[in-house]
Amino acid sequence: MFELKVLSEPNIVSTAQVPDDFSLSYSSARAQASVLSDGFGRIHHYLRISLVEHCNLRCSYCMPEEGLEWTSHEELLTDGEIIRLARLFVGQGVKKIRLTGGEPLLRSGIGKIVEELGALPGLQTLAMTTNALLLKRKLPALRAGGLNLINISLDTLQPDRFKEITRRDGLGLVLEAIDHAIELGYSPLKVNCVVMRGVNEDEIVDFAEFTRRRPIEVRFIEFMPFDGNRWNEDKLVPYNEMLRMIRRVYPMESLHTSRKETAKMYKVSGFLGRIGFITSMTDHFCEGCNRLRITADGHLKVCLFGRSEVNLRGAMRGGAEDQDLLELISTAVGGKHARHAGMHLIAASKNRPMITIGG
Ligand code: 5AD
Ligand code: SF4
Repeated sequence: MFELKVLSEPNIVSTAQVPDDFSLSYSSARAQASVLSDGFGRIHHYLRISLVEHCNLRCSYCMPEEGLEWTSHEELLTDGEIIRLARLFVGQGVKKIRLTGGEPLLRSGIGKIVEELGALPGLQTLAMTTNALLLKRKLPALRAGGLNLINISLDTLQPDRFKEITRRDGLGLVLEAIDHAIELGYSPLKVNCVVMRGVNEDEIVDFAEFTRRRPIEVRFIEFMPFDGNRWNEDKLVPYNEMLRMIRRVYPMESLHTSRKETAKMYKVSGFLGRIGFITSMTDHFCEGCNRLRITADGHLKVCLFGRSEVNLRGAMRGGAEDQDLLELISTAVGGKHARHAGMHLIAASKNRPMITIGG
């Protein structure tokens, strides 16, 4: 009755190509079969919802320099549709929702959305990824509404470079928001830093220093290819190299994270904060993936790098009952592939720009 759009998927690896060391057992997967389990035993407890496509920054790694044609307002999910979908997913076992964008704080009525999501029974973590330009002012209300985890995007500690990377001013505001969030008790506060060779890799040690007295987790993210972001392998700084750069200056302890975690965690001995590496490119963590994404225009994406999408907005506006939506979601999750096919294939094929997927 409703459309399930499955495109050919050059970016991801299907069942036939699952490597021998793929550790999750198929039988345990079947035993726990539910709407949010896939064929590899992965249960999806984590939903990322993009609230808007636009942004008050213009980071080159996230969106094309020439800009984008934004989706029209009518095609974005309404507040009611967002809450309906969130309630449905939480009812199926989602424990964590992250609000993304674009810049989620640009969504009008963000306070109300947070409050309604924060009140969903069963939801344990309500998180947001933000560039923090508007965070300081809005934070007390968001916190009262139930926002309990924040990731702030920050790729440089130098004002001029901030302007080059984001094509806007604002480092001071971001640093103030970081301090304010720490004061309000967000701990650990996560800081996302996308590392690009020739752009900011010379600041890795400064970011490590940034964890000395702050209860923060700086997460160095390997630069990933998305449409229009001029990715090439030379700009990727592999995590091993980042680690060596910090180790030349500071003694680092490994915090022994499991293979399934997205971040490999470390800390500089004696420092308050921690350091993580998100190694999506050189050592993917697909086998532990528990995430699903809903784009601002209401499409469910089961894999960040996959092109398959299910138009939940269309289904809802076509009159779908909750049961119909659950069937669509179940089919999409059930068809999720084992892992992405590597950075070269991803770079060579089509996806959305990151800003329209939701970082
Ligand atoms: N590579 C890695 N991470 C990216 N993000 C956006 N674009 C990229 C990319 N090309 C992530 C960053 C940022 C969030 C909004 O999305 O973590 O903080
Ligand atoms: Fe905006 Fe974040 Fe994308 Fe930068 S990375 S353009 S701050 S959404």
